[in-house]
Amino acid sequence: MSIDWAGPAPQRVAVISDSLEHAGDLALRLGDLFQLEFFHPDELSGAGPGELTFVDINLKDAARVSTLKRWLERRPKHGQAIFGINRGSRHESIQAYAIGATDVLPRPVDGELLLLRFSGGSSSFATHSVQSTRESFAGISVCMDSLQNIFAAAVSGEMPDMQMLNAASAEIVERIDEDGLGRWLDILRKHHSQTFQHSLVVTAVAVSFGRSLGFHAIDKQRLASAGLLHDLGKARIPIEILEKPTPLSEAEVAIMRTHPQLGFEALRDAPGLHPEMLDVILHHHEYLDGSGYPHGLHENEISDLVRTVTIADIYGALIERRPYRAPMSGTEAYQILQDMGSKLDKDLVRAFRALAQSVD
Ligand SMILES: [Fe+2]
Ligand SMILES: [Fe+2]
Repeated sequence: MSIDWAGPAPQRVAVISDSLEHAGDLALRLGDLFQLEFFHPDELSGAGPGELTFVDINLKDAARVSTLKRWLERRPKHGQAIFGINRGSRHESIQAYAIGATDVLPRPVDGELLLLRFSGGSSSFATHSVQSTRESFAGISVCMDSLQNIFAAAVSGEMPDMQMLNAASAEIVERIDEDGLGRWLDILRKHHSQTFQHSLVVTAVAVSFGRSLGFHAIDKQRLASAGLLHDLGKARIPIEILEKPTPLSEAEVAIMRTHPQLGFEALRDAPGLHPEMLDVILHHHEYLDGSGYPHGLHENEISDLVRTVTIADIYGALIERRPYRAPMSGTEAYQILQDMGSKLDKDLVRAFRALAQSVD
Protein backbone atom coordinates (compact mmCIF):
# COMPACT_ATOMS: atom_id res chain seq x y z
CA MET A 1 0.00 0.00 0.00
CA SER A 2 1.33 3.45 -0.83
CA ILE A 3 0.52 6.59 1.10
CA ASP A 4 0.34 9.95 -0.66
CA TRP A 5 2.33 12.11 1.76
CA ALA A 6 2.24 15.07 -0.54
CA GLY A 7 -1.54 15.53 -0.38
CA PRO A 8 -3.44 16.89 -3.43
CA ALA A 9 -1.35 18.01 -6.38
CA PRO A 10 -0.64 21.76 -6.35
CA GLN A 11 -2.83 23.85 -8.64
CA ARG A 12 -1.39 25.04 -11.93
CA VAL A 13 -1.03 28.79 -12.13
CA ALA A 14 0.06 30.74 -15.20
CA VAL A 15 2.28 33.62 -14.11
CA ILE A 16 2.55 36.57 -16.48
CA SER A 17 5.68 38.53 -15.65
CA ASP A 18 7.75 41.05 -17.57
CA SER A 19 10.68 41.05 -15.17
CA LEU A 20 13.17 38.25 -14.66
CA GLU A 21 13.91 39.55 -11.20
CA HIS A 22 10.21 39.54 -10.19
CA ALA A 23 9.72 36.13 -11.75
CA GLY A 24 12.59 34.72 -9.68
CA ASP A 25 11.14 36.23 -6.53
CA LEU A 26 7.68 34.81 -7.33
CA ALA A 27 9.16 31.36 -7.95
CA LEU A 28 10.71 31.46 -4.47
CA ARG A 29 7.53 32.71 -2.81
CA LEU A 30 4.97 30.61 -4.62
CA GLY A 31 6.87 27.60 -5.94
CA ASP A 32 6.05 25.38 -2.95
CA LEU A 33 2.32 26.10 -3.13
CA PHE A 34 1.57 26.08 -6.84
CA GLN A 35 2.72 24.48 -10.03
CA LEU A 36 3.92 27.63 -11.78
CA GLU A 37 4.20 28.21 -15.51
CA PHE A 38 5.86 31.49 -16.44
CA PHE A 39 4.95 33.52 -19.53
CA HIS A 40 6.31 36.77 -20.83
CA PRO A 41 3.45 39.17 -21.79
CA ASP A 42 4.81 39.30 -25.36
CA GLU A 43 4.50 35.52 -25.70
CA LEU A 44 0.99 34.73 -24.52
CA SER A 45 -0.49 31.52 -25.91
CA GLY A 46 -3.18 31.73 -28.59
CA ALA A 47 -5.44 29.51 -26.51
CA GLY A 48 -6.06 32.17 -23.85
CA PRO A 49 -5.66 31.75 -20.11
CA GLY A 50 -6.50 28.68 -18.01
CA GLU A 51 -8.39 28.67 -14.71
CA LEU A 52 -5.77 30.48 -12.61
CA THR A 53 -3.58 33.36 -13.71
CA PHE A 54 -1.32 35.63 -11.74
CA VAL A 55 -0.24 38.85 -13.43
CA ASP A 56 2.78 40.81 -12.31
CA ILE A 57 3.67 43.36 -14.96
CA ASN A 58 4.30 47.07 -15.36
CA LEU A 59 0.80 48.46 -15.99
CA LYS A 60 2.21 51.63 -17.56
CA ASP A 61 3.20 49.75 -20.71
CA ALA A 62 0.12 50.53 -22.85
CA ALA A 63 0.86 48.15 -25.74
CA ARG A 64 1.40 45.17 -23.46
CA VAL A 65 -1.58 46.04 -21.34
CA SER A 66 -3.96 46.03 -24.29
CA THR A 67 -2.59 42.67 -25.54
CA LEU A 68 -2.97 41.22 -22.07
CA LYS A 69 -6.50 42.57 -21.77
CA ARG A 70 -7.59 40.88 -24.98
CA TRP A 71 -5.95 37.64 -23.84
CA LEU A 72 -7.66 37.72 -20.44
CA GLU A 73 -11.03 38.26 -22.09
CA ARG A 74 -10.74 34.69 -23.35
CA ARG A 75 -10.41 33.12 -19.91
CA PRO A 76 -12.87 30.38 -18.87
CA LYS A 77 -16.14 31.47 -17.24
CA HIS A 78 -14.96 31.01 -13.65
CA GLY A 79 -11.31 31.62 -14.39
CA GLN A 80 -9.47 33.92 -12.02
CA ALA A 81 -6.84 36.53 -12.79
CA ILE A 82 -5.14 38.05 -9.77
CA PHE A 83 -2.86 41.05 -10.27
CA GLY A 84 0.07 42.06 -8.11
CA ILE A 85 0.06 45.84 -7.60
CA ASN A 86 2.04 48.31 -5.56
CA ARG A 87 0.64 48.51 -2.05
CA GLY A 88 -2.04 51.17 -1.60
CA SER A 89 -2.05 52.24 -5.25
CA ARG A 90 -5.67 53.01 -6.01
CA HIS A 91 -4.66 53.98 -9.53
CA GLU A 92 -3.08 50.58 -10.25
CA SER A 93 -6.02 48.83 -8.65
CA ILE A 94 -8.46 50.62 -10.97
CA GLN A 95 -6.26 49.84 -13.95
CA ALA A 96 -5.97 46.17 -13.00
CA TYR A 97 -9.75 45.76 -12.83
CA ALA A 98 -10.12 47.59 -16.12
CA ILE A 99 -7.73 45.12 -17.74
CA GLY A 100 -9.65 42.14 -16.38
CA ALA A 101 -8.39 41.38 -12.87
CA THR A 102 -10.77 39.41 -10.67
CA ASP A 103 -8.77 40.45 -7.63
CA VAL A 104 -5.61 42.34 -6.72
CA LEU A 105 -2.91 41.70 -4.11
CA PRO A 106 -0.17 44.02 -2.88
CA ARG A 107 3.47 43.33 -3.75
CA PRO A 108 5.44 41.48 -2.50
CA VAL A 109 2.77 38.84 -2.86
CA ASP A 110 2.23 36.48 0.02
CA GLY A 111 1.86 32.88 -1.22
CA GLU A 112 -0.64 31.82 1.46
CA LEU A 113 -2.81 34.82 0.72
CA LEU A 114 -2.74 34.06 -2.99
CA LEU A 115 -3.73 30.46 -2.24
CA LEU A 116 -6.63 31.73 -0.15
CA ARG A 117 -7.82 34.12 -2.88
CA PHE A 118 -7.58 31.48 -5.58
CA SER A 119 -9.66 29.18 -3.42
CA GLY A 120 -12.39 31.80 -3.05
CA GLY A 121 -11.30 33.90 -0.05
CA SER A 122 -12.84 37.36 -0.04
CA SER A 123 -11.15 40.43 -1.39
CA SER A 124 -10.79 43.62 0.57
CA PHE A 125 -9.96 45.52 -2.62
CA ALA A 126 -12.81 44.73 -4.97
CA THR A 127 -15.87 46.86 -4.42
CA HIS A 128 -19.32 45.50 -5.03
CA SER A 129 -20.08 47.83 -7.90
CA VAL A 130 -16.91 46.85 -9.70
CA GLN A 131 -17.65 43.15 -9.17
CA SER A 132 -21.27 43.26 -10.26
CA THR A 133 -20.88 44.88 -13.65
CA ARG A 134 -17.37 43.97 -14.62
CA GLU A 135 -18.42 41.09 -16.80
CA SER A 136 -20.67 43.26 -18.94
CA PHE A 137 -18.26 46.13 -19.33
CA ALA A 138 -15.24 46.56 -17.13
CA GLY A 139 -14.50 50.11 -18.21
CA ILE A 140 -17.89 51.53 -17.33
CA SER A 141 -17.95 49.96 -13.90
CA VAL A 142 -14.51 51.31 -13.12
CA CYS A 143 -15.51 54.81 -14.22
CA MET A 144 -18.79 54.59 -12.36
CA ASP A 145 -16.88 53.56 -9.24
CA SER A 146 -14.53 56.52 -9.62
CA LEU A 147 -17.37 58.91 -10.31
CA GLN A 148 -19.25 57.73 -7.22
CA ASN A 149 -16.12 58.29 -5.15
CA ILE A 150 -15.61 61.77 -6.61
CA PHE A 151 -19.26 62.72 -5.95
CA ALA A 152 -19.14 61.20 -2.45
CA ALA A 153 -16.09 63.35 -1.68
CA ALA A 154 -17.97 66.46 -2.87
CA VAL A 155 -20.92 65.65 -0.59
CA SER A 156 -18.73 65.18 2.47
CA GLY A 157 -16.63 68.26 1.72
CA GLU A 158 -13.48 66.26 1.00
CA MET A 159 -11.20 66.77 -1.96
CA PRO A 160 -11.64 64.22 -4.73
CA ASP A 161 -8.76 61.94 -5.66
CA MET A 162 -7.20 63.47 -8.78
CA GLN A 163 -5.42 60.22 -9.65
CA MET A 164 -8.76 58.49 -9.71
CA LEU A 165 -10.17 61.20 -11.96
CA ASN A 166 -7.23 60.85 -14.33
CA ALA A 167 -7.50 57.06 -14.40
CA ALA A 168 -11.23 57.24 -15.14
CA SER A 169 -10.67 59.85 -17.88
CA ALA A 170 -7.97 57.70 -19.50
CA GLU A 171 -10.21 54.66 -19.34
CA ILE A 172 -13.07 56.47 -21.08
CA VAL A 173 -10.80 57.73 -23.86
CA GLU A 174 -9.52 54.20 -24.42
CA ARG A 175 -13.00 52.64 -24.40
CA ILE A 176 -14.37 55.19 -26.84
CA ASP A 177 -11.35 54.72 -29.11
CA GLU A 178 -11.83 50.95 -29.07
CA ASP A 179 -15.60 50.43 -28.81
CA GLY A 180 -17.11 53.65 -30.14
CA LEU A 181 -19.86 55.85 -28.76
CA GLY A 182 -22.79 53.54 -29.60
CA ARG A 183 -21.55 50.61 -27.51
CA TRP A 184 -20.90 52.89 -24.54
CA LEU A 185 -24.37 54.44 -24.75
CA ASP A 186 -26.11 51.04 -25.02
CA ILE A 187 -24.73 49.99 -21.65
CA LEU A 188 -25.01 53.35 -19.93
CA ARG A 189 -28.66 53.72 -20.78
CA LYS A 190 -29.36 50.64 -18.65
CA HIS A 191 -27.73 52.11 -15.57
CA HIS A 192 -30.15 53.24 -12.88
CA SER A 193 -28.63 56.40 -11.45
CA GLN A 194 -29.70 59.30 -13.59
CA THR A 195 -26.97 61.68 -12.52
CA PHE A 196 -24.08 59.25 -12.97
CA GLN A 197 -25.56 58.05 -16.23
CA HIS A 198 -25.81 61.64 -17.43
CA SER A 199 -22.22 62.46 -16.47
CA LEU A 200 -20.88 59.42 -18.29
CA VAL A 201 -23.06 60.00 -21.36
CA VAL A 202 -21.86 63.62 -21.59
CA THR A 203 -18.28 62.46 -21.10
CA ALA A 204 -18.58 59.84 -23.82
CA VAL A 205 -20.18 62.33 -26.22
CA ALA A 206 -17.53 64.98 -25.48
CA VAL A 207 -14.66 62.50 -25.98
CA SER A 208 -16.21 61.16 -29.18
CA PHE A 209 -16.64 64.71 -30.42
CA GLY A 210 -12.95 65.41 -29.67
CA ARG A 211 -12.04 62.22 -31.46
CA SER A 212 -14.06 63.20 -34.54
CA LEU A 213 -12.21 66.53 -34.56
CA GLY A 214 -8.87 64.67 -34.54
CA PHE A 215 -7.88 65.74 -31.00
CA HIS A 216 -4.75 64.27 -29.43
CA ALA A 217 -5.10 61.91 -26.47
CA ILE A 218 -4.26 64.64 -23.97
CA ASP A 219 -7.09 66.87 -25.22
CA LYS A 220 -9.56 63.97 -25.26
CA GLN A 221 -8.55 63.34 -21.67
CA ARG A 222 -9.28 66.99 -20.81
CA LEU A 223 -12.73 66.59 -22.33
CA ALA A 224 -13.24 63.39 -20.35
CA SER A 225 -12.32 65.01 -17.04
CA ALA A 226 -14.52 68.01 -17.85
CA GLY A 227 -17.45 65.73 -18.67
CA LEU A 228 -17.02 63.70 -15.50
CA LEU A 229 -16.85 66.79 -13.30
CA HIS A 230 -19.25 69.20 -15.01
CA ASP A 231 -22.29 68.33 -12.87
CA LEU A 232 -20.40 67.58 -9.68
CA GLY A 233 -22.46 70.26 -7.91
CA LYS A 234 -25.49 67.99 -8.27
CA ALA A 235 -23.95 65.90 -5.50
CA ARG A 236 -25.10 68.70 -3.19
CA ILE A 237 -28.65 68.96 -4.57
CA PRO A 238 -31.32 67.06 -2.55
CA ILE A 239 -31.75 63.60 -4.01
CA GLU A 240 -35.57 63.90 -4.23
CA ILE A 241 -35.13 66.81 -6.66
CA LEU A 242 -32.20 65.24 -8.47
CA GLU A 243 -33.84 61.90 -9.20
CA LYS A 244 -37.47 63.13 -9.39
CA PRO A 245 -39.34 60.93 -11.85
CA THR A 246 -41.55 63.81 -13.11
CA PRO A 247 -40.68 67.29 -14.45
CA LEU A 248 -39.47 69.78 -11.81
CA SER A 249 -41.56 72.65 -10.37
CA GLU A 250 -40.34 76.25 -10.74
CA ALA A 251 -38.96 76.28 -7.19
CA GLU A 252 -37.18 73.00 -7.78
CA VAL A 253 -35.69 74.32 -11.02
CA ALA A 254 -34.29 77.29 -9.07
CA ILE A 255 -32.61 74.91 -6.62
CA MET A 256 -31.32 72.75 -9.44
CA ARG A 257 -29.79 75.83 -11.07
CA THR A 258 -27.48 76.33 -8.11
CA HIS A 259 -25.49 73.22 -9.07
CA PRO A 260 -22.77 75.03 -11.10
CA GLN A 261 -21.99 77.29 -8.11
CA LEU A 262 -22.15 74.36 -5.67
CA GLY A 263 -19.76 72.33 -7.81
CA PHE A 264 -17.39 75.27 -8.09
CA GLU A 265 -17.38 75.74 -4.32
CA ALA A 266 -16.80 72.03 -3.74
CA LEU A 267 -13.66 72.00 -5.89
CA ARG A 268 -12.41 75.60 -5.69
CA ASP A 269 -9.49 74.62 -3.44
CA ALA A 270 -8.83 71.16 -4.86
CA PRO A 271 -5.05 70.79 -5.23
CA GLY A 272 -3.94 69.77 -8.70
CA LEU A 273 -7.23 70.63 -10.40
CA HIS A 274 -6.70 72.65 -13.56
CA PRO A 275 -8.56 76.01 -13.49
CA GLU A 276 -10.27 75.17 -16.81
CA MET A 277 -12.13 72.36 -14.99
CA LEU A 278 -13.55 74.92 -12.54
CA ASP A 279 -14.51 77.04 -15.55
CA VAL A 280 -16.46 74.09 -17.02
CA ILE A 281 -18.15 73.30 -13.70
CA LEU A 282 -19.21 76.91 -13.15
CA HIS A 283 -20.11 77.90 -16.71
CA HIS A 284 -21.45 74.90 -18.62
CA HIS A 285 -24.97 76.42 -18.56
CA GLU A 286 -23.88 79.77 -20.02
CA TYR A 287 -24.96 80.66 -23.57
CA LEU A 288 -23.10 82.85 -26.08
CA ASP A 289 -26.07 85.30 -26.28
CA GLY A 290 -25.94 85.98 -22.54
CA SER A 291 -29.14 84.10 -21.69
CA GLY A 292 -27.49 81.35 -19.64
CA TYR A 293 -26.73 81.05 -15.93
CA PRO A 294 -25.32 81.66 -13.33
CA HIS A 295 -23.47 84.75 -14.65
CA GLY A 296 -25.10 85.57 -17.99
CA LEU A 297 -21.70 85.49 -19.75
CA HIS A 298 -21.34 86.47 -23.42
CA GLU A 299 -19.35 85.21 -26.43
CA ASN A 300 -15.67 85.81 -25.60
CA GLU A 301 -16.17 85.16 -21.93
CA ILE A 302 -16.94 81.51 -22.69
CA SER A 303 -13.96 79.26 -23.44
CA ASP A 304 -13.78 76.66 -26.22
CA LEU A 305 -13.71 73.83 -23.69
CA VAL A 306 -16.86 75.13 -22.00
CA ARG A 307 -18.60 75.60 -25.39
CA THR A 308 -17.79 72.00 -26.32
CA VAL A 309 -18.97 70.55 -23.01
CA THR A 310 -22.17 72.63 -23.20
CA ILE A 311 -23.02 71.08 -26.56
CA ALA A 312 -22.24 67.56 -25.28
CA ASP A 313 -24.28 68.31 -22.14
CA ILE A 314 -27.45 69.41 -23.95
CA TYR A 315 -27.20 66.66 -26.53
CA GLY A 316 -26.40 64.04 -23.85
CA ALA A 317 -29.46 65.03 -21.79
CA LEU A 318 -31.69 64.68 -24.86
CA ILE A 319 -30.51 61.22 -25.91
CA GLU A 320 -30.62 59.79 -22.37
CA ARG A 321 -33.41 57.61 -21.09
CA ARG A 322 -35.47 59.59 -18.59
CA PRO A 323 -38.25 58.14 -16.41
CA TYR A 324 -40.88 60.40 -18.01
CA ARG A 325 -39.86 60.22 -21.64
CA ALA A 326 -38.15 58.00 -24.18
CA PRO A 327 -34.66 59.00 -25.36
CA MET A 328 -34.56 61.13 -28.50
CA SER A 329 -32.77 59.91 -31.58
CA GLY A 330 -29.46 61.57 -32.38
CA THR A 331 -31.02 63.32 -35.37
CA GLU A 332 -33.88 64.78 -33.29
CA ALA A 333 -31.46 65.92 -30.58
CA TYR A 334 -29.21 67.53 -33.18
CA GLN A 335 -32.17 69.48 -34.58
CA ILE A 336 -32.71 70.99 -31.13
CA LEU A 337 -29.07 72.09 -30.98
CA GLN A 338 -29.46 73.74 -34.37
CA ASP A 339 -32.66 75.44 -33.27
CA MET A 340 -30.82 77.01 -30.34
CA GLY A 341 -29.15 79.28 -32.93
CA SER A 342 -26.92 81.99 -31.46
CA LYS A 343 -26.88 80.46 -27.99
CA LEU A 344 -24.30 77.87 -29.08
CA ASP A 345 -21.07 78.03 -31.09
CA LYS A 346 -22.32 77.54 -34.65
CA ASP A 347 -19.02 76.20 -36.00
CA LEU A 348 -18.86 73.58 -33.26
CA VAL A 349 -22.49 72.61 -33.79
CA ARG A 350 -21.81 72.18 -37.51
CA ALA A 351 -18.74 70.04 -36.79
CA PHE A 352 -20.83 67.94 -34.40
CA ARG A 353 -23.41 67.02 -37.04
CA ALA A 354 -22.10 63.67 -38.33
CA LEU A 355 -21.38 62.26 -34.88
CA ALA A 356 -24.68 63.52 -33.44
CA GLN A 357 -26.72 61.97 -36.21
CA SER A 358 -24.89 58.64 -35.95
CA VAL A 359 -26.69 57.79 -32.68
CA ASP A 360 -29.95 55.80 -33.06
FE1 LIG B 1 -25.31 70.93 -15.38
FE1 LIG C 1 -25.11 68.17 -17.29
